[in-house]
Amino acid sequence: MIKVLVNGAKGRMGSLVASTVRGDSSLQLVGETDLGDDLRARILAAQAEVVVDFTHPDAAAKNTEIIFQAGAHPVVGTTGFKPEEIQRLQELASRLGRGGLIAPNFAIGVILMMKFAAEAARYFPDLEIIELHHNQKADAPSGTAIKTAEWIHAKRDQKPQGSLVHEKQTIPGVRGGRCQEIPIHSVRLPGMVAHQEVLLGGQGQFLTIRHDALSRECYMPGVLLAIKRVKGLKGLMYGLENILEL
Ligand SMILES: NC(=O)c1ccc[n+]([C@@H]2O[C@H](COP(=O)([O-])OP(=O)(O)OC[C@H]3O[C@@H](n4cnc5c(N)ncnc54)[C@H](O)[C@@H]3O)[C@@H](O)[C@H]2O)c1
Repeated sequence: MIKVLVNGAKGRMGSLVASTVRGDSSLQLVGETDLGDDLRARILAAQAEVVVDFTHPDAAAKNTEIIFQAGAHPVVGTTGFKPEEIQRLQELASRLGRGGLIAPNFAIGVILMMKFAAEAARYFPDLEIIELHHNQKADAPSGTAIKTAEWIHAKRDQKPQGSLVHEKQTIPGVRGGRCQEIPIHSVRLPGMVAHQEVLLGGQGQFLTIRHDALSRECYMPGVLLAIKRVKGLKGLMYGLENILEL
């Protein structure tokens, strides 16, 4: 049984991870910590092998460092890492010779949607992205939309995208924003959770690849997979795609 401690266990994600770990017979929940707890001391006392962190962007890098220093493998879902923080933590992981995973999105379906869109873009280079989220979301476009555009860009030739060069736009912004020349349209409405469509147009045919996250449950299979695979990783990986064997 893998001994798991959940940090941020009083939060929305952390409490769900704790109950999901409890329900898996191959895992043992050995601790739940939150703001005010001594994370290092609790990891050592519980002899936790894997620590899952869903806390706050301001604390994520420090927590990951503490988890490594305390001898455990981090599985981190907290968002907001700066590239230099990831690099520093990757150097620490390789010095310690220990595996870890930071994944800004644990929904396996989202990773597949990005992967399928990037594959399809080789044959359907004309495409646009629509991402739709609840109206409390602080940023636009979503990190997933940006990452999708970057994955597509890596697979597809550079291409002037989506409209005629001399298209007249009578309302500024009506054709969306651009990432790697790919138009991204952000919709924010109450009632939505997290959704994304990649629309690919071809001659006489049209392909839509869509993912809908309906609740936080969608992240749990990815978190469980990470907990079970993290001990075998070489170094600190960034992104769930690194453990999906795609
Ligand atoms: N990777 C993913 O797939 C994914 C999915 C959903 C949310 N998130 C991210 O996970 C994080 C948490 O989201 P949430 O909705 O559960 O938030 P939340 O506010 O419901 O919970 C966060 C919890 O962390 C605790 N906390 C804050 N700072 C802490 C610290 N320094 N040490 C220990 N505990 C601390 C808070 O007290 C709270 O209980 C956010 O960064 C969010 O963007 C990631």
